Amino acid sequence: MVQVNELEAAIVAHIGEHGPIGFDEYVDHALYAPGLGFYATGGGAGRRRDFLTSPEVGPLFGLVVARALDAWWDQLGQPDPYLVVEAGAGPGTLARTILAADPRCATALRLVLVEPAEGQWATHPAKVTSRRDLPEPGELGAGPVVVLANELLDNLPFGLVELADGGWCEVGVGATGADGADQLGRLAEVLIPLDARRAAWCRGQAGREGEVGTRLPVQAEAAAWLDSALGLAAGGRVVVFDYASTTKAMAGRPWTDWVRTYADHARGGHPLADPGRCDITVEVAIDQLATVATPDVDRTQAEFLRAYRLEELVADGVARWRALGSAGGLPAIAGRSRVHEADALTDPAGLGAFRVLEWSTQSFSW
Ligand SMILES: C[S@@+](CC[C@H](N)C(=O)[O-])C[C@H]1O[C@@H](n2cnc3c(N)ncnc32)[C@H](O)[C@@H]1O
Repeated sequence: MVQVNELEAAIVAHIGEHGPIGFDEYVDHALYAPGLGFYATGGGAGRRRDFLTSPEVGPLFGLVVARALDAWWDQLGQPDPYLVVEAGAGPGTLARTILAADPRCATALRLVLVEPAEGQWATHPAKVTSRRDLPEPGELGAGPVVVLANELLDNLPFGLVELADGGWCEVGVGATGADGADQLGRLAEVLIPLDARRAAWCRGQAGREGEVGTRLPVQAEAAAWLDSALGLAAGGRVVVFDYASTTKAMAGRPWTDWVRTYADHARGGHPLADPGRCDITVEVAIDQLATVATPDVDRTQAEFLRAYRLEELVADGVARWRALGSAGGLPAIAGRSRVHEADALTDPAGLGAFRVLEWSTQSFSW
């Protein structure tokens, strides 16, 4: 008897009824299907969950982002209210650490969290909107908005294409046949030939010499998210933190390098295995976002954090520890641990190599 989990059985049944689905639709089910998807059932960022993100390393990341929020508040002329939307807030750790850092803009700051997965809300410190879409422009009131997203875009459903023997194809998800009436089929990749226009885009990315088996990600949902974020920001700013690359660079690497699965702080297997039990992520293709708008600033996370005085904050923490030692209690210990947090957040082989993409939307006042 083939063992399939409940979500896999539901996807197989859906495919049996409607035919193969796109890889993007599959990712959507695997991560967000109500009651069964990975995020919908409480998987995600955190020491007790599945992987560590920058805010989960410790409070230093939120402290530096709070400094950045103050700087952007000044640049915007200190609006009150100061609208900041954090999209993909997960368990709300970044928002909590920003508030705990007591930024200068605190009295004006109106922080709105957008997080569709109910399983993530228990610890949220601020207003939550449950939907997946960003608020409509103007819905939060007049004035500029800063939109932040840490490790959101890598988690938005994405498509895959592959150069097969006969040409470029979409990688869809179908189901292998069941062997008997009481057995369910399993999920399996299916290749669906692309029309000439899409195939030409793929050739442009992979080059004519692209080898059979080459794959590319198609990140239409991430581009659509950016489009809405720029509309919402209206004279403010959109700031995205994520692991990122370019479509051309990904064409030259095995797809299993840039599509990754995680559960319980370990890399997982093929994304079609055990849907709902692991995260499925993709490196963000900066060039695909740039078809919506080219970022005004594109730098590493290490560069971003240093630009907002990471080193000074670490030195302050160390000085507090030296002055007070363990008699200084938790604040002194937190000061000392900034050294290790900074190492992790700027690690050139890890979080430090993430990209921070910024769009300043003065030119986008719709
Ligand atoms: C990798 S987690 C990042 C969580 C948090 N930002 C962090 O850095 O720890 C991605 C989060 O984005 C959420 N998400 C997925 N699609 C979304 C959408 N369209 N809008 C907002 N959040 C979304 C997921 O439910 C998940 O909680």
